[in-house]
Amino acid sequence: MQRKKIAVIGGGQIGSIIALMSTQKELGDVTVVDLPQNVNPVRGKTQDIDHLRPHIGVDVTLCATCDYEDISCADVVVVTAGVPRKPNMSREDLLDINLEIVKGVAEQIKCHCPDAFIIVATNPVDTMAYAFQKVSGLPRNQVVGLSGALDTGRFQHFIADETGLSVKDVSCMVMGGHGPTMMPLIRTATIAGIPITTLLNQEQIDNIVRRTREAGTEIVNLLGNGSAYFSSAASIMEMIEAYLGDKKRVISSSALCQGEYGIDGYYLGVPCVIGAGGLERILEIELTAEENAALQKTADAVVQSVRQTGL
Ligand code: LAC
Repeated sequence: MQRKKIAVIGGGQIGSIIALMSTQKELGDVTVVDLPQNVNPVRGKTQDIDHLRPHIGVDVTLCATCDYEDISCADVVVVTAGVPRKPNMSREDLLDINLEIVKGVAEQIKCHCPDAFIIVATNPVDTMAYAFQKVSGLPRNQVVGLSGALDTGRFQHFIADETGLSVKDVSCMVMGGHGPTMMPLIRTATIAGIPITTLLNQEQIDNIVRRTREAGTEIVNLLGNGSAYFSSAASIMEMIEAYLGDKKRVISSSALCQGEYGIDGYYLGVPCVIGAGGLERILEIELTAEENAALQKTADAVVQSVRQTGL
């Protein structure tokens, strides 16, 4: 069987870690694309990862390139290209600069690998996924954004931390835009099927919600020169594996809503079934009036951001 091909656009922190994690899991051959002026340092990283293969007994190839021709047969493309946040910046502050980058990438992908499954990670992600889809014209099942996978992981972590129970048994989801209006869903969060509302008091729950919403910013402030990359890469890996393994996983992702949740024509974090068909389905769960109001608020924030793109 031919090995799968994973392309990563942008060889920064997230891109490099995806190359490493994909190799560790022997998911397929990895090609990292970056600008001509960056390609040598990126090649240094891919060669370094190449040289760790003997230690883990993995047979895949890795390469760095500035030529999109080299990803013409990619099964999956992860778009990490763009500028990350610095302290005191919101994800929205990146819109203008990253929009131009993502538009350029979308043109290239449309031309060189229009059949690939695309995961957009560049911020502000709901708007960048929208822009990517608009410019590339690819169908919605092929283009999703990284949002809920990362935010849900953080939500799971804080629930496990607060209860002192295993993160493995926490099941929950974050919906909405990948920003301060995101919606960690308390009502449906459980530990081994036990509602967290029976295990934690309101103050603890409020604290979990706040920390989930602020986690990305907290890390930006600590790092001083970038945003979270280990957990971002791990979240993207879950999405890649769900696709390549046709797992039908339910992963909250930024997806083009076409009437689901009353939203039409915008990308928003919703429960997505990810399998061999890419985004196979958006699951529509019944929300309470309060949750619906929160969803409207987060959708409004995304719409406002998208309007600024002029697309
Ligand atoms: C975060 C950035 C990657 O949430 O958006 O950490």
